[in-house]
Amino acid sequence: TTNDPYVSAIPKIELHIHIEGIISADLKWKFSQRNAQPITNPRTNQPFSSLEELRDSHDTLKPRAGNRMDNSEETLSFFEAYYGGFEALKTTRDYYDLAMEYYERAAGMNVRYAEIFFDPQGHTRVGTSWETMMEGFRAAQGKAERELDVKSAWIMCFLRDESLESATQHYNAALKYRDMIIGIGLDSNEVGRPPSLFDGVFARARNDGFRLTAHCDVGKHYPLDHIHQVALGIAGIGADRIDHGLNAAGDASLTTLIKSKELGMTICPWSYIRHQPLDEVFGRIRALFDAGIMISIGSDDPAFMEDTWVLENLLVVKKYCGFTNVEVQKLAENAINMCWASGGAKERMM
Ligand code: HPA
Ligand code: ZN
Repeated sequence: TTNDPYVSAIPKIELHIHIEGIISADLKWKFSQRNAQPITNPRTNQPFSSLEELRDSHDTLKPRAGNRMDNSEETLSFFEAYYGGFEALKTTRDYYDLAMEYYERAAGMNVRYAEIFFDPQGHTRVGTSWETMMEGFRAAQGKAERELDVKSAWIMCFLRDESLESATQHYNAALKYRDMIIGIGLDSNEVGRPPSLFDGVFARARNDGFRLTAHCDVGKHYPLDHIHQVALGIAGIGADRIDHGLNAAGDASLTTLIKSKELGMTICPWSYIRHQPLDEVFGRIRALFDAGIMISIGSDDPAFMEDTWVLENLLVVKKYCGFTNVEVQKLAENAINMCWASGGAKERMM
């Protein structure tokens, strides 16, 4: 599938990638062995005893039908597998290695700039300090810029299934790293957790000069009202981008609102086709594109899909939306317009 010289060669900007979403079972195992830190199977409360056992449970794609939130007995749900990786990371070197893993992949796909999500609450709650995490990221970020020609910035996400109080504490801690952090996002399990719960801390972040975005996941569990809040409500006037938000394609007034506010949407097709019908997913992506809404393509959590990075995500939309090379190029240009780097930096990037 990667034999597409045109799409491979396009200079790329990636705006929807979770650094923790690249922690494959193998990488988890590597960190856990190195730190002599067993990984707990949340289903049994026993440590995983082999890489094979970990790989098997980590395969959140099995069964292929059904929602990612309610998997079978032997396979962990997406969030169980995802957060199960965090406890294996202990040292600055681990965070450095993790980020370098991304930057090297990115360089190989012609990614020139990335705004990378990270979930600090997931790390501090298993005992890692901000400093350990950020110093590892900082060292990798510098090396990638100098040696791989991949520039980047970080987007700190609040875990929406944690409290406002915890989000606020983590926001305060993030201020020390504002030279690295360009924006604030919202992710994790959205069920029953509207963006408005975090309005106070989003308003502070906007005042302090951060850019804002929030996840609105795709499928029947996720109300249109959450998208409406992100588009119009957060911090009084709405966020700067919407992450996912594909449900909006089924609603004329919401698509009109998103278009009139010129809100960009980050779309990650491999994340949706695991639990939504293909024709609906690609029909909706095509509809947003044809309506003139600014969408860009990201990879979300490559290690939890089928090892599908931004290149594979571009290729799958090209194929199933029937996009021409010129239209794929347009998707890449949208990412330039949507990104939060300063104007001069953008011009030097591409
Ligand atoms: N949705 C919500 N939270 C997440 C995701 C996602 O796709 N990936 C990592 N955290
Ligand atoms: Zn995401």
